[in-house]
Amino acid sequence: MPLYHTLGKIPHKRHTQFRKPDGSLYSEQLFGTIGFDGMYSNMYHEHRPTMVKEIRNQYSVAPKIAVENNIKSYRLKGFQVKPEDDYLDSRKAVLTNSDCTIILAAPRHSIKEYFYKNTDADELLFVHKGTGKLRTQLGNLDFKYGDYLVIPRGMIYQIDFDTEDNRLFIVESRSPIYTPKRYRNHFGQLLEHSPFCERDIRRPYELETHKELGDFLLKVKKKDEIIEMVYAAHPFDVVGYDGYNYPYAFSIHDFEPITGRVHQPPPVHQTFETNAFVVCSFCPRLYDYHPESIPAPYNHSNIDSDEVLYYVDGDFMSRNDIEEGHISLHPAGIPHGPHPGAVERSIGKKGSDELAVMVDTFKPLMVTEEGLALSDGTYHTSWLDHD
Ligand SMILES: [Fe+2]
Repeated sequence: MPLYHTLGKIPHKRHTQFRKPDGSLYSEQLFGTIGFDGMYSNMYHEHRPTMVKEIRNQYSVAPKIAVENNIKSYRLKGFQVKPEDDYLDSRKAVLTNSDCTIILAAPRHSIKEYFYKNTDADELLFVHKGTGKLRTQLGNLDFKYGDYLVIPRGMIYQIDFDTEDNRLFIVESRSPIYTPKRYRNHFGQLLEHSPFCERDIRRPYELETHKELGDFLLKVKKKDEIIEMVYAAHPFDVVGYDGYNYPYAFSIHDFEPITGRVHQPPPVHQTFETNAFVVCSFCPRLYDYHPESIPAPYNHSNIDSDEVLYYVDGDFMSRNDIEEGHISLHPAGIPHGPHPGAVERSIGKKGSDELAVMVDTFKPLMVTEEGLALSDGTYHTSWLDHD
């Protein structure tokens, strides 16, 4: 996140002696991305962060591909994903390519017995149902319905859920997730025309510092495998840090929609960008106010991107028969557009209460076995007229 942040105790200068009350040194760790060119934080540990005791199991969690070369539109009924007790077990990859994986999860239980770290990808967790606390080595973030949680790769975390009724829409990104560059000035500050500003970005506020030694299980995701490692020190043993690389939260309800006299294109909804896909937020908003405007979108061709919409709440005006938790996939190469009747239905309407998250990928997505199991099988013909 291009915002400087600091929590806890740090020394006056980086890479200098920083001592505990007993005179011994804290362990400094530089935590950054893109070699030494990306955003980074400097953190100070009670113990060396390198104390591996044991490497136990290693097993694949690679998505199982069902449709590799896809040109069919799909509707996936996301709430049919069955809740599972364990957070990692609950994560079901439904769409994937070499840049990103789209996951649905309905975890029942908090992560208590282990810590988790994804070294493959930044993670974007969208909270559809549930409240709780994301606990990380760089501080904690409370979350609730509508929150995006951005967790940079390599961040060790646990999640505390308040109840067992949780639904997450997750995007794993193999390149860093940023806010759109066009909304930032030369200094990184969000510009006046940005649909959100720094006040909407929630940074970690509560640093947990555990000093104990023992056996601490860390499940590390690397190259689509989970590797179980046992460390000798508690992973949350940071006494302080500063920098730009840390988890943060942003609520979709804090996104201020950009509207116009005629239909505005999807980039006005953009919330995050990577070099391989964008994420947009469709929020309740006033409709176009030209006297002859058509608020429903025109037919459009995603010649070079696949479009994934995750429907969160409200009545989605351009689709018939779409419910919360559904995903629509409109693949690159063929046009898609409003369902029959949606254009006429939209004329004269003053506003929309739709809430949805869109992921547009520049490379085609493959449908996994778990994704295909959620498909109704008929969506690709849903633009035909039916008597
Ligand atoms: Fe579209």
